[in-house]
Amino acid sequence: MKHLLQTSDLTINDISQILSDAQYFIDGGNWSPKKNVFIANLFFENSTRTKCSFEVAQRKLGLDIIPFEVGTSSVSKGETLYDTVKTLEAIGIDAVVIRHNQDRYFDELVGKSDVSIINAGDGCGHHPTQSLLDLLTIKQEFGSFKGLKVAIIGDIRHSRVARSNADTLVRLGAEVVFSGPVEWFNDELLENGSYEDIDSTVETADVVMLLRIQHERHGEKGTKAADDYHQAFGLTIERERRMKSGSIIMHPAPVNRNVEIDDSLVECKRSRIFKQMTNGVYIRMAVLKRTIEQMEGSGQNEDINKK
Ligand code: CP
Repeated sequence: MKHLLQTSDLTINDISQILSDAQYFIDGGNWSPKKNVFIANLFFENSTRTKCSFEVAQRKLGLDIIPFEVGTSSVSKGETLYDTVKTLEAIGIDAVVIRHNQDRYFDELVGKSDVSIINAGDGCGHHPTQSLLDLLTIKQEFGSFKGLKVAIIGDIRHSRVARSNADTLVRLGAEVVFSGPVEWFNDELLENGSYEDIDSTVETADVVMLLRIQHERHGEKGTKAADDYHQAFGLTIERERRMKSGSIIMHPAPVNRNVEIDDSLVECKRSRIFKQMTNGVYIRMAVLKRTIEQMEGSGQNEDINKK
């Protein structure tokens, strides 16, 4: 795996191996590259979880992190993303983790640079490592995906998390349903799942996955009053009470408390929101491992436990 740009880059077998490697790291397993690997994290959009967990993952694997902040880089002088990546390649960087507000920013890079690219989120496009950490969280809970019902609720249209998760979950055999404001739907995503009213879906879903309202992608139009949204489409205390036994709550975060989910439910017994964040470190270790193995030319199917 030279790059990880979108979940469709991964076969079911790839996903299964990444989840297995992540669990190996959670269980205390070790792995490190054969030689120094230089990596830079290029975040053109704000982030707490993805940026920090990639950095923790990189440190745990012993990678050499080259500090890069967009605001103090030559991007502020007008240097393009393409020239930035070509520059990092020229000075010896092996891999870059990139978050950018432009959908498919990576199309202008792939094939034009030898640097491995790991997508940490592109606009409304894709968020592959978020999907993988969500899958790990679901697998830890239920053991497998077949027959599970996953309700993805909220700002579907602007959500790279919804797109990535709908792709992986359906391929793994789960049923995906979408809920939320109809004007925030996405016809393309409905190919992977149907619409269901929130009041019925919370009663039947195994996983209630709430999405953040992405105000930054709405412009002036389309913002909703927080309380109106919460009552109409949020996980209220009353809706949580109707969730089926054993079902869990997920949210990629950051959470708008009392909007997508009642404040008191963010850390309730059903919530796996902070577990998702913890899993993000180990998933990113597993993704980095596969990328580096490809650089080293070692077999990606090699059993990690034999190392
Ligand atoms: N879930 C997620 O991508 O969070 P950040 O924007 O904080 O990285």
